[in-house]
Amino acid sequence: MCGIIGYVGPRVARDVVVAGLKRMEYRGYDSAGVAVVSDGRIEVRKKAGKIANLEAALAQSPLPDSEIGIGHTRWATHGGPTDANAHPHVSQNGRVALIHNGIIENFAGLRAELEAEGVGFRSDTDTEVAAQLLGREVGRGLDLAEAMGAVCQRLEGAFTLVALDAEQPHRLVAARRNSPLVVGVGEGENFVASDVAAFIEFTRSAIELGQDEMVDVTPERITVTDFWGRPAASKPYEVTWDLSAAEKGGYDWFMRKEIFEQPTAVFETLLGRYTADGALKLDELHIPEAHLRGIDKIIIVACGSAYYAGLVAKYAIEHWTRIACEVEIASEFRYRDPIITGSTLVVTISQSGETADTLMAIRHARDQKARIVAICNTNGSTIPRESDAVIYTHAGPEIGVASTKGFETQVAACYLLGLYLAQVRGTMFGDEIARVMQELAETPKLIQRVLDNLSPLEDLAGRLVGRDSFLFLGRHVGYPVALEGALKLKEIAYLHAEGFPAGELKHGPIALVDSGVPVFVIVPPQGRDQLHDKVVSNIQEVRARGAFTVVLAEEGDDEVAPFADVLLRLPQVSTILQPLLAIVPLQYFACEVATRLGYDVDQPRNLAKSVTVE
Ligand code: G6P
Repeated sequence: MCGIIGYVGPRVARDVVVAGLKRMEYRGYDSAGVAVVSDGRIEVRKKAGKIANLEAALAQSPLPDSEIGIGHTRWATHGGPTDANAHPHVSQNGRVALIHNGIIENFAGLRAELEAEGVGFRSDTDTEVAAQLLGREVGRGLDLAEAMGAVCQRLEGAFTLVALDAEQPHRLVAARRNSPLVVGVGEGENFVASDVAAFIEFTRSAIELGQDEMVDVTPERITVTDFWGRPAASKPYEVTWDLSAAEKGGYDWFMRKEIFEQPTAVFETLLGRYTADGALKLDELHIPEAHLRGIDKIIIVACGSAYYAGLVAKYAIEHWTRIACEVEIASEFRYRDPIITGSTLVVTISQSGETADTLMAIRHARDQKARIVAICNTNGSTIPRESDAVIYTHAGPEIGVASTKGFETQVAACYLLGLYLAQVRGTMFGDEIARVMQELAETPKLIQRVLDNLSPLEDLAGRLVGRDSFLFLGRHVGYPVALEGALKLKEIAYLHAEGFPAGELKHGPIALVDSGVPVFVIVPPQGRDQLHDKVVSNIQEVRARGAFTVVLAEEGDDEVAPFADVLLRLPQVSTILQPLLAIVPLQYFACEVATRLGYDVDQPRNLAKSVTVE
């Protein structure tokens, strides 16, 4: 949510900043802006709308070459998406330009204070308050870093701030609380950004900043302190992926590319986490086994697709470990006084590791003495940093706003966690665990088979593109798949789509079924699952009322064929693992429909990839 970048070094800063913004546009696309320092003056170009608008503005009125620059791509919170509200914001005295990601909750009081001193505001944003405060402190003679520290001490809420000073053309200062900030360590040049993708073409060496920390950056020096100027520990790490992972590589959309990366992403997530004889090996789970044996409840907390991954996990974890497992939407969990004790294990799932609601939820759980395990895709991000242990999914960067490989690897990581807990607690025999693990290890190949057979979905998207309402039905683990399939269609094709447990159909949702309404149904494995026949009955019930049925059933299941208007085949796999296969056609269908409707699949309206405000 909002992408920010700063650069100091010998390159043309404006170009580095704009290139970085383009790689972070998924974080927000309501406006974009750049500021540089030239001849002791700050120059800014900013424009409402996507970065293309900023580029057009830059072409008309170029910014001078300079060795320092900051840039911002916005997801609007306070103040509409206008040119005036676009970042960077420059202080009234012209000394500093500042960009911000987050929400400054006490901005109204601070604004009144500044206005009483005669400061005139040029925007409706909370951010301008920080710019004006910083300008005031620097104008009073405070050093830029000291001024930033002093300003941060007065702010409440979530913020990453990056600022430059008209009088110091080789120095940036950045700070963070509750929003992400990573430093890119170059040779004779340095970067700060919301996400390593912004500078990955220049360096893979990065430093994550901790909570309430700030960084003072010149081309040669990086100094990390807290807001009070006390030195803070910082250790660079190597980013394991490169520029090609952050580019589309011939695909029309990042989302489509990411759908096709799922076999590799799941493979990488499983890699090294089991032995040749199928025993689980989660070395990174630094919670003593004795403690894990004493856990009496698991609560999974997440948002969006990660929440649906958690719903899948519940079925697996309860089945394998016999520990009661609740799944909670993070924004609800935090504020309803949940029952948490020292023997509760909270599992948090987050692709970005920055989702504000999820972060606040785990902080609350920690206060209640729960242990926290994070399942996360972003190395060193805030949520894993604030958890007791982390299982990283190795999906590589996910740039399409609608999660695909993120969801898929979250589900895979949850299976690993469930099996590991079963191993530690002895709720499954070793050979049972090995059997499931072997099957799980085969899933990347099976996902590839699903991907190799997606062409019928292109015809289907063509047939259904005019429909405005879609239903998705599933039972057991098929239910969260139905929810996730519906979410994909809502997110990127802006269509009414709802997922239901198929058994609940008769209690209301069936009233929505009318002639021609498309109903997607995920069918459990035939013969090996007691729910198979019940779902087949559900298909007949909706068909009898005129539904157009799109049935996802495993290869060899002949019972469903007569009731399917379109039959999509899934490779055979155990029920619990079926979500890894069944979600893939639904992701692809949504991508196809949205493409046909002419929408921007990677940057759907009103959404942002990483929601860093509550
Ligand atoms: C946003 C994204 C979703 C994502 C959710 C949770 O809403 O658009 O795709 O599932 O955030 O994100 P997280 O990074 O915590 O998994």
